[in-house]
Amino acid sequence: MKELRIEFVEISRNSNSFTELETALFTKALDVCETAYAPYSNFYVGASLLLENKLFITGSNQENASFPCGICAERTALFAAKSNYPNLKIIKIAITTKSRHFNNTNPVAPCGLCRQVLLEYEMKQKSDIEIYLLNKEKVIKLSKAKDLLPFYFSEDRLKRK
Ligand code: THU
Repeated sequence: MKELRIEFVEISRNSNSFTELETALFTKALDVCETAYAPYSNFYVGASLLLENKLFITGSNQENASFPCGICAERTALFAAKSNYPNLKIIKIAITTKSRHFNNTNPVAPCGLCRQVLLEYEMKQKSDIEIYLLNKEKVIKLSKAKDLLPFYFSEDRLKRK
């Protein structure tokens, strides 16, 4: 029998277990969440990435009256990072959400499309991307994107064996 275990930890935002870079990463995700253009869902998402050279790249969700045109915060940040710094590894990503209609009592996890994009960059760079899902009170930490999408589709499926 094969067993697959996915691990995550839930940490209080007030805990002093975060590094300065992590705290800065969280602040940037919370700040960029305010720039979301989400007049249709009223659901605001902010994502911030830490690159290996300690540069932060951020993104928020951007919606459109023609619904499929919109893009999630995570992919806004990921594509900005990879367009401008294609050879720099992504070390961490923090994601936060806010709704005008309700409180997110638990941190929200990325959609399937964003998981797929995160995973492909993680595999391409051959090193894990730490994931931090946060709200005002807590942080859920996963040590790699693969933990968000264990049964993934990857580019090796497109190759003839
Ligand atoms: N959204 C994100 O930005 N990230 C996700 O992982 C899930 C959903 C956005 C897309 C849309 O603008 C709004 O949240 C509601 O789905």
